[in-house]
Amino acid sequence: MSKLKFVRHPHPAPTPADKRAQLLANPGFGRVFSDHMVTIRYSEGKGWHDARIEQRRPIEMDPASAVLHYAQEVFEGLKAYKTADGGATMFRPRENAKRFRQSAERLAMPELPEEDFLEAIDQLVSIDRDWIPDGDHGSLYIRPFMFANEIFLGVKPSSEYLFIVIASSVGSYFKSGADAVSVWVSPDYTRAAPGGTGAAKCGGNYAASLIAQAEAHKHGCDQVVFLDAAERKWVEELGGMNVFFVFNDGTMSTPPLGGTILPGITRSSLLTLAKDKGIKVREERYSYDQWKADAGSGKLREAFACGTAAVVTPIGTVRAPEGEFKIGNGGSGARTEELKTALVDIQRCRAPDRHKWIHRVF
Ligand code: PLP
Ligand code: COI
Repeated sequence: MSKLKFVRHPHPAPTPADKRAQLLANPGFGRVFSDHMVTIRYSEGKGWHDARIEQRRPIEMDPASAVLHYAQEVFEGLKAYKTADGGATMFRPRENAKRFRQSAERLAMPELPEEDFLEAIDQLVSIDRDWIPDGDHGSLYIRPFMFANEIFLGVKPSSEYLFIVIASSVGSYFKSGADAVSVWVSPDYTRAAPGGTGAAKCGGNYAASLIAQAEAHKHGCDQVVFLDAAERKWVEELGGMNVFFVFNDGTMSTPPLGGTILPGITRSSLLTLAKDKGIKVREERYSYDQWKADAGSGKLREAFACGTAAVVTPIGTVRAPEGEFKIGNGGSGARTEELKTALVDIQRCRAPDRHKWIHRVF
């Protein structure tokens, strides 16, 4: 139970139902927002306080707010789903609460107790339940985040923070829907170095990745793939997703967590689901050169990206400055589809929840 008292100030003029229905018809990703937000303040000495649910609106910030200068910010991303009986569920939200604490710790920020994080997202999903889209690709993407807002230009951990949760009605992340995506292997840029913030979900990681992601788009690719910073050899992850490889002997691999990649909750769930199915998955380094050689020889059958936004998305084409190669037939593969179905069926409450991953909001 959260020890905070959440004060509710419902929106005095929420979006009318017909306007909302229009927005939900084809929401895309991250452009349609629900009516409310949750905020919780932190100040040194006082701790977490002033928890509110109120109408989503612009926030006023002082130009000397620390986050605007030194990027002390962390965030999370998870989805709420509509159930057949009109309820709402979330997938492993405590894992997001835990990762949020760990990200905060790395960024020298105060840790929000997991119970407060969970209560905040439950409250938002409850009040904005009508913003969860119907259909198999629709969900309410929940974005909890926290930033430093002490008014001070000295470089040090802030003494004040604001935690906010907003929600966005979403469809598929990629425009191509379930088709395979193409990825660009960034020759010049890396995402995270040993000792850096790669394992934390902080805005700064994404800021540093944008130039490489833009380069990927320039080369006609949907996502960028980062190689490790030390040797520029090992495949780490995509701009916003983890990656798995499927081999012709039935085994799979995924890059190991080592501080430079984000410990994805989808990644961890797929490792468990693969194990349930008796599929051998190695958490093992895989080089770009080997990837190319194995795709050419047929040893590599499939590859896919995974994450909350992307769910499970097959990778069909890999492009680099020296040329490109296809994986399998350039589309999706049987193993990718099998694991995707297993995951989505649990998320959508169509399969038994053996691992107790589903949190019922109401
Ligand atoms: N890697 C990066 C860089 C991400 O932004 C994400 C998305 O959250 C992931 C991996 C996948 O993490 P999760 O499965 O917890 O969404
Ligand atoms: C997520 O999957 O939640 C992410 O943060 C990825 C981002 C590209 C939207």
